[in-house]
Amino acid sequence: MEIYTILLLFLCFNIKIQISSTTNLASGKFCFQSSTRRETVPKKPHFATNFNNGIVIGDGTDYCSVTDADPLDVSWWSVDLEKVYSVTKVCILSVDDSSYENLKDFNIFVGNFPKDHQTICKYVTGPVKRPISTDISQYNCYSCNTGSIGSFVTIQLTRNNVVLILCDVEIYGDLIKKDRDFHQLDMSNVKEIHGGIGENQPPRGGFDNNFRTIFHSRNHIMVYNPNHQFCVQNFNGTFRTVYELINIQCNPTLEGRYVLIIQNDSPPRDRFLEFSEVNLYVSLLDEHELQTFNGPTYKSGILVKVKNYLHNNVSEKVTSGNFLFSHTVCLEFEFMLTKEIQLISQDNIGISEVDIFAVSKISHKGL
Ligand SMILES: *[C@@H]1O[C@H](CO)[C@@H](O)[C@H](O)[C@H]1NC(C)=O
Ligand SMILES: *[C@@H]1O[C@H](CO)[C@@H](O)[C@H](O)[C@H]1NC(C)=O
Repeated sequence: MEIYTILLLFLCFNIKIQISSTTNLASGKFCFQSSTRRETVPKKPHFATNFNNGIVIGDGTDYCSVTDADPLDVSWWSVDLEKVYSVTKVCILSVDDSSYENLKDFNIFVGNFPKDHQTICKYVTGPVKRPISTDISQYNCYSCNTGSIGSFVTIQLTRNNVVLILCDVEIYGDLIKKDRDFHQLDMSNVKEIHGGIGENQPPRGGFDNNFRTIFHSRNHIMVYNPNHQFCVQNFNGTFRTVYELINIQCNPTLEGRYVLIIQNDSPPRDRFLEFSEVNLYVSLLDEHELQTFNGPTYKSGILVKVKNYLHNNVSEKVTSGNFLFSHTVCLEFEFMLTKEIQLISQDNIGISEVDIFAVSKISHKGL
């Protein structure tokens, strides 16, 4: 029995060596960080995984990712490897100035979303090398604890009020699962709806991964549909840092075709909604091209006519017409034997889907 077990382990070990990857998994991958230093070129998180390597921060360069310092929280950085890996090694290139020492007492985590602490690849105490070039010898490499499995790698400091600077991050590991059941939504295909866009602020500013262009919506006081499911309600940003990242998980996962971000003041008052970027992670449920009610303006309702089978007369109702944000609007009719249902869009806007629910009056009475 014991001999058998040892043999099995040995075999697994051999196979693992064979498929071990020497490819830098982080190369070119999308990244996130707690906040981003504002400069002519904001020091975006993916500067640590892009193809331009350098060891100085200099204004206008895209060599290093740089966060802002938050007096009340720690800085962190995450990369999305897109597939699930058993991460074996992480190599980090620090910066060639006195702040290279910021990179000490930090954790490297592996998990399933940005800033996920699911497993600790490594806790690093010592200070790192101050690089003199981008040569691989100038990197600080760490082997991960076994079982560091996931598709996001996070580097997180343990002290508040410290700027996190990463001039390059390389990640190595073995592929565990090719297809993850969620992916980053391609925002170039997303249709946005808004209360009204501010001057010189095209709506795409919030979806173009250019931190310096923003989404800016004029005030549009509205009461949201109480049937909305909330991913997060009454959420506050901390806004102590520049380009602060608000990282929200929907737990449980919600289904729908619209994501609504709304200034939720109570009582409602005049406020603008502004943000630099939105990124969404989704699982695809339905690939149908959506031709929906959405558009830049408030839509009038849809007229619904239901013809009575017995008497041939018609009952009419108009939906509330609040299609600016609502993704589904329902109308209820009295029980009748139905011959024909007619939907008339009053402004020629398409309808993406209609669901009809019929109930039996008799079973109702039985209750
Ligand atoms: C959000 O912030 C405001 C103003 O700082 C505060 O009054 C409010 O209690 C906060 N709400 C939550 C849910 O933390
Ligand atoms: C249709 O006719 C029936 C029978 O006359 C009547 O009870 C019903 O109220 C009528 N409905 C409408 C919408 O006119």
